[in-house]
Amino acid sequence: MALQAGADRDAGQDLPQLTSDPGVAAAALLDGRLAGLPTETVYGLGALADNEDAVRRTFAVKGRPADHPLIVHVRDTASATHWSGDWNPHAQALAEEFWPGPLTVITRRSSRVTDAVTGGQPTVALRSPDHHHFQQVLEALARAGVQHPGVTAPSANRFGAVSPTTAAAVLAELSDRLTPGDVVLDGGTCHVGIESTIVDCSSEQVRIRRLGAITSDMISDLLGSPVATSSTPATAGRVSGELESHYSPAATVELVERDQLNDRVAELAAQGGAVGVITTVDQTTSDAVVLLAATSDEHYAQSLYAALRSADAQHLDHVLAVAPTGSGIADAVSDRLRRAAASS
Ligand code: TXA
Ligand code: MG
Repeated sequence: MALQAGADRDAGQDLPQLTSDPGVAAAALLDGRLAGLPTETVYGLGALADNEDAVRRTFAVKGRPADHPLIVHVRDTASATHWSGDWNPHAQALAEEFWPGPLTVITRRSSRVTDAVTGGQPTVALRSPDHHHFQQVLEALARAGVQHPGVTAPSANRFGAVSPTTAAAVLAELSDRLTPGDVVLDGGTCHVGIESTIVDCSSEQVRIRRLGAITSDMISDLLGSPVATSSTPATAGRVSGELESHYSPAATVELVERDQLNDRVAELAAQGGAVGVITTVDQTTSDAVVLLAATSDEHYAQSLYAALRSADAQHLDHVLAVAPTGSGIADAVSDRLRRAAASS
């Protein structure tokens, strides 16, 4: 895909510019354009948070409903206090411990935050990404005179589809929806691989709204009290990552127990389907393509989305996945698998 996009670009077609220079991405944002940006979790589709037109365009490009709020990415906690209207002790403690890193903190918003960012909600989600390129973009914006810069960045996928973890995957998702002037900043493969943990600190009871690499235990240990986790996604329509069906490739995704994997592969193959497997051990199956044999929960998280993408690139009909059994980030991986399977 990357080669294809590069070849097209050289031919001068109307595609976003692929760059590895954070200064180019910052200039595009200042110019009101969109920028695909690398983070440690997944690639985001960035816009300057102060620019309402650019922010609104991210919704159009993704095909995402306008009332699903965006995360504002900031450099540090000092910047967060300019976007939050209530940067409370819970928020400060979490950010001090886990920023920059895969944790998004929700608090009440300040007057700087526009309705375009929050879908009209009274709260704002903030995160400082742990990726050198993204931090350099924020620094360049500050140098250009933007006070406490904020960059909105939803995952750079079409609404409901699998989040991209490489620049090539961003182009595969969005290049036909981006226009000249938009850019994609190549910062390599995302290290964590699944989206940030979202913690709602807007009320006294701290609540996890999306599971991620920062686990519920890490958060409750730090705060010294148990945290709640939003349970039923079906009622939580405004948090896309909480929708029951999300993170879906075109292939059907089915969760199976490890000891049932080979039988299920044989069954589907006998029906004529092309099958891929995602497993937790090095397991060879003659009737299926091994998309991922994860050697650890972290490896599983890092490579899951690439594996789902690869299933579609190989035109597979079915993906059979054995969920990881550990806790912590394994819970977040299982959550994404369950949602990928829900639309199958
Ligand atoms: O790891 C990540 O968080 C990535 C990278 C690019 O930073 N971003 C990401 O953004 O996953 P997005 O838009 O795909 O998912 C953010 C989720 C959405 O489900 C959104 O509804 C929720 O955060 N969200 C944002 N602001 C919120 C708010 N004020 N209250 C509740 N949920 C909010
Ligand atoms: Mg997303």
